[in-house]
Parts: sequence; structure tokens; C-alpha cells
Amino acid sequence: MKTLAEEFPLRSDLVYLNHAAVGVWPRRTAEAVKAFAEENMRQGAADYPQWMKVERELRMRLKRLLAASSADDIALVKNTSEALSLIAYGLDWQPGDNIVSSNQEFPSNRIVWESLQGKGVELRLADISGDGPETALLSICDERTRLLTISSVQYGTGLCMDLNLLGRFCHDHGILFCVDAIQSLGALQFDVEACHADFVVADGHKWMLGPEGLAVFYSGPEAREQLKLLQYGWHMVERAGDFDASDWAPAAAARRFEPGSPNMLGIHALNASLSLFEDIGMETVESLLLDRAGTLMRWVEENPDLELMTPVQSGRYAGIVTFRHRQLDSVGHADLYRRLMKAGIVCANRAGGIRLSPHFYTDVNAFMPGWEQVISSSL
Ligand SMILES: Cc1ncc(COP(=O)(O)O)c(C=O)c1O
Repeated sequence: MKTLAEEFPLRSDLVYLNHAAVGVWPRRTAEAVKAFAEENMRQGAADYPQWMKVERELRMRLKRLLAASSADDIALVKNTSEALSLIAYGLDWQPGDNIVSSNQEFPSNRIVWESLQGKGVELRLADISGDGPETALLSICDERTRLLTISSVQYGTGLCMDLNLLGRFCHDHGILFCVDAIQSLGALQFDVEACHADFVVADGHKWMLGPEGLAVFYSGPEAREQLKLLQYGWHMVERAGDFDASDWAPAAAARRFEPGSPNMLGIHALNASLSLFEDIGMETVESLLLDRAGTLMRWVEENPDLELMTPVQSGRYAGIVTFRHRQLDSVGHADLYRRLMKAGIVCANRAGGIRLSPHFYTDVNAFMPGWEQVISSSL
């Protein structure tokens, strides 16, 4: 196996702290994409069975990453937003039904639910900024709650939710549980059965270090049956490839959500990226990442001008560290963001502050000199 320095030969003038937006590809992913391009150029799809093998391998890797019981529960879709839309428009809503979520969600996990308003479906948003975010969510559920949908880690503050607690409640109360895991898959260990999730959605371009445009959509077998199909084609039928058959039935597996030709380029790339996580082990990835996030949080806390927006308690943070400068307004933060970027610190301006998101391989110490200089000249 290559060293981490060989896998991540980033420009030496950059400190990449933006995995919560778009991650960096490891070398093996870049090489897989180059090899796939070369193969396409030289022999087209002459070895298509080998491509299908890579596709099956990816489904197995995703199954293991989620700790799912079967790869049949994994569909490959375009992005997180598409998966959420398949759920929102697949369920058979009744007027008066409600959906419970939080006031910190990324727009993809809010807009689609708001769009159901015309069907008489209410979206209830809990304020999860105080102590006990799970209690805030559960206290607004009632007998008409059909679905609870939440990000495993909030994209702005980095707040990490107790999925097992939420899932247990949903399971006991007949509420569907949907997890937007894009900010935690590839960062933290995940156990879809322990958290009783009915649906898990996540694009591969953040913490999984894959390309944009290829997402995992997990659906449990019973939950899957509740979704009416919205897209049709040759690939979503039980006997895909039997082009002469005049009758058809949707695949029993989650493949029923994949109407046509797969994103083979993305599949080759994400498969290579996930092989790195398997080589290293998710337990190690998680512990290295939490250590790096912890270091960044300590630096923020040591500076009296800065206010940490990410909770420091163990279990409440993952890879996102967001802070505010006490003397800066939103314009000031936009300017601080630009100056950090100019200093080679790749970060994001989110939740009214600055969001830093290292990954397990990031040398956060390389961030210190540039950061001190920019922060001390902030006013
Ligand atoms: C929590 C969360 N959900 C969804 C998305 C959007 O994902 P996609 O572009 O795959 O639809 C993002 C992107 O930042 C996100 O942070």
C-alpha cells in the first residue's frame, strides 16, 4: 500500500480543509479514472463484464460501509438530492401527514419536503441549537408523523446527531427514518441496522473522496416497498438485459431505482476511493479524523476573539469545525474567508462563520502559520 503522502500529493501551498464541500481524490482514484479513460479510448466497452464486476464490487463496499445486511438494499443514483426526491415523491402521502426535521438542514433536505405542502403535508422543523437536539426533534412528533429526516452531521455547525436514539424512537412509533449521511459516510463509522434507518442517502464527493454525481441510496426492504416508482427503463426490471422479454416486473432489489445505464466512470472512481477506506479501516479513519478536528477546535478555543460553533463534547462532532470571529459581521466573515483562501487555506463560509473540514490524512499543523497570520490581521 502507498503511504498517505503518496496517496494525497496535494499542492504544498494548500491546506485542504473543505471535505464537507468537495473532497480530494486519492491518487488511486485519479489512476483508476485515467485507466478507464485509456481503456475507453482503446477498446470501448469490449470488456463490459469487467466493468460490471467493478460495479458489483462498489455495491459490496457500500454495503460494508453502511453495515447493511445486503447489497440489494443499495441503489446508485445521481446525488443526495435525487435520492431524497425519490423518497419524497415515492411515498403515498395523506393530507394532514407531517414530516419532522431540523432547522439546520442543508436545503436539499428541506426544499423537497416543503414541496409536498400542496398535498397537505406539513414540514415541522425542530430548533436543534440547544441542549438535547434529539429531544427537540422527538417532542414535535405525533401520531400523524410519517417520516423523520435528519442529517447525521449538520453541514453548518457540524453537530453530530444521535442516530441510534432517533431511529429507535421512529422504529417504536411506526415513523419512517431517513438519514442524510453525506456529512458522515467516509468520516465516521456507520451502522444502518443499529440506527434503524429506513433510508440513507449520500453522495460520494465529500468524505468518501469520490467524484460528484454518484450517490448511495439505501432503502430497507420494507421501506422500499412503500415507494412508488417514478422512473422506468431497461435497468430497473428484475430481468435486466433480457431485451426480448415483453413482460417485466420491477427488480426486488434497490436497483429498481436505477432506470438506465449506470455512471460507469463514477463507479470506477468511487470504487477506487472506497478501497482506500477499506485498506485503512473505518475505525482508524474515524479516530484520526476526530483527533484532527479536536486539534482545530482547541486552536479556536485558545483564541479569545473566536467563538466555536461546533459542539466539543465527544460524540457531538465529526469532521466539521465551524467558528465565528466575535468582532466580525457577515461581510467581515466573507472577507475573512477570502483571505484564508488567498493564504492557501481551502475552507468554506457557512452558518455565518468559517467552516474547516480536514480529513483523516490532513496535516492540520501545516495550517497553523497561515491561519495565525490571517486571524491576527482580521480587524
Ligand atoms: C447535508 C447535505 N445534504 C445534501 C447535500 C447536497 O448533496 P447533493 O449535491 O449530492 O444533492 C449537501 C451538500 O453540501 C449537504 O451538506
